[in-house]
Amino acid sequence: MESKRGRVYIIGAGPGDPELITVGGLKALKRADCVLYDFLSNSELLKHAKDSCERICVGKADGLHLKEQGEINRLLYKKSKEYRVTVRLKGGDPFIFSRGAEEARYLKKKGVRVEVIPGITSAIAGPESFGIPLTVKNKISSVAIITGRKKDTNAEIEAPRCGTLVYLMAVGNISNVVKALRRNKWSEATPCAFIERATRKDTRIIHATIATIEEEAQRAKIRPPAVLVVGEVVNYGKE
Ligand SMILES: C[S@@+](CC[C@H](N)C(=O)[O-])C[C@H]1O[C@@H](n2cnc3c(N)ncnc32)[C@H](O)[C@@H]1O
Repeated sequence: MESKRGRVYIIGAGPGDPELITVGGLKALKRADCVLYDFLSNSELLKHAKDSCERICVGKADGLHLKEQGEINRLLYKKSKEYRVTVRLKGGDPFIFSRGAEEARYLKKKGVRVEVIPGITSAIAGPESFGIPLTVKNKISSVAIITGRKKDTNAEIEAPRCGTLVYLMAVGNISNVVKALRRNKWSEATPCAFIERATRKDTRIIHATIATIEEEAQRAKIRPPAVLVVGEVVNYGKE
């Protein structure tokens, strides 16, 4: 039955561990008539949805898109007309290197009621799950979250002078990330860590420095999803 009063919830699923969705996110998921999810959200979470809930994988992960963004937007709009509660479940936080804001804008322009429920981003949860704080009182007072990959592969990666840098999507482009750090005069001895599949059962961490991270990541066969942390904070995680 068609309802014109559908609402779309754009929800952060958290970094991987299904316990790390918010209470608000879980409540909305339990009420969902339809869920559109991507590869980075834990499929365990879908068990909370009603049996009758339509589950659609729109499959966005590093390098693999089952559906293009325009198609996802249109599908969300279509489902908002079919159902009372549609959930768009996105890995981590829906607005951090994710296109939740774009989806929300598209739907709002078309008059759809949208609610955004933030999630725990892998940029914070990844380091923290191995005891790495991103700030340290009176010592490290700034953090930048940076993309390690740009659509235009010739575009420079950013490496600002800042307390801690956290790179997402850096695995396949690590050599350019290291070049950027060198260009911006980061010391070769700065500690780094790659955290793979944070908060999942098979998560792991590798430690290195800017001088060795490329080689160490290759040796350990680090694969996406992984976050790269750069800065003295990495040593605090070792304590
Ligand atoms: C398109 S971005 C989406 C980020 C997401 N919105 C967030 O807030 O975590 C995908 C990147 O997030 C990072 N990522 C997501 N989940 C991760 C996890 N469980 N462990 C490590 N990195 C993760 C990886 O760098 C991956 O390439």
